[in-house]
Amino acid sequence: MSELLDPFITVENVVFRRERRLIYDGISAHVPRGKITAIVGPSGAGKTTLLRLIGGQLIPGSGDIKVDGLVVNQLKRKQLFELRKRMGVLFQSGALFGELSVFDNVAFPLRVHTELDDDLIRLVVLMKLEAVGLRGAFDLMPYELSGGMQRRVALARAIALDPEMIMYDEPFVGQDPIGLGVLLALVKRLNQALDLTSIVVSHDLKETLSIADHVIMMANRVVAFEGTPQAMRGSEDRLVQQFLNGSPDGPVSFHYSAPPLLEVV
Ligand SMILES: Nc1ncnc2c1ncn2[C@@H]1O[C@H](COP(=O)(O)OP(=O)(O)O)[C@@H](O)[C@H]1O
Ligand SMILES: [Mg+2]
Repeated sequence: MSELLDPFITVENVVFRRERRLIYDGISAHVPRGKITAIVGPSGAGKTTLLRLIGGQLIPGSGDIKVDGLVVNQLKRKQLFELRKRMGVLFQSGALFGELSVFDNVAFPLRVHTELDDDLIRLVVLMKLEAVGLRGAFDLMPYELSGGMQRRVALARAIALDPEMIMYDEPFVGQDPIGLGVLLALVKRLNQALDLTSIVVSHDLKETLSIADHVIMMANRVVAFEGTPQAMRGSEDRLVQQFLNGSPDGPVSFHYSAPPLLEVV
């Protein structure tokens, strides 16, 4: 598999703690270039944390995160700033600026990070809005848009600087089935049209796997599975099966880790 020889991102033996709680116990994984990678796993497994490590907002206790050959956890501030311009992010909470129009929301990163004049900014903004099917909505305010449309504007803003990769954290939350279908198709279409490397964290498992080329499943502080969606469905691993089938009992524990009850009462 040539993609394995040329990953866009590699995670190598990463150990990560929050205060004294161990979040990752030495995880390794990779994100193939130009593909859609799904990061799945139970709530609290550390999916968002992984995105923040890739973006350099968090630093691992040990191990390395490499993005396009750069060791993110060793970059100087300025290099990290440059690298972040190459990464688009769409966080669940990544709301639009409510007091700015759709146009100005998408223009925002261009005004901050580039020297483009107004005519060029206008052209780029309208192209990005066209890509998400909302060119006609350029002069609306965020409150005039449906939730799904707001997310598409946020996506246009995330691709404004022509990133090489894009990370989506729970992009489908709160969408009705039609809105979800539109966003799924859009993630796939943009990945191809813009030649992006895409990472999608989502608990809409079936839908996300339907567009993913590669899956990383996090659970119990480790990478429980990595491979194609097809291989995941065929896996006989109990943890993977528990997760795919949504069963409450299995290797993924129901309890958040805590000392035995008798020690605390
Ligand atoms: N700011 C924080 N401070 C302390 N613990 C955190 C913080 N953010 C997340 N955690 C913990 O890290 C673990 C992983 O969180 P997260 O990456 O958000 O999980 P996921 O995105 O898979 O639901 C969780 O157990 C969570 O409680
Ligand atoms: Mg999360």
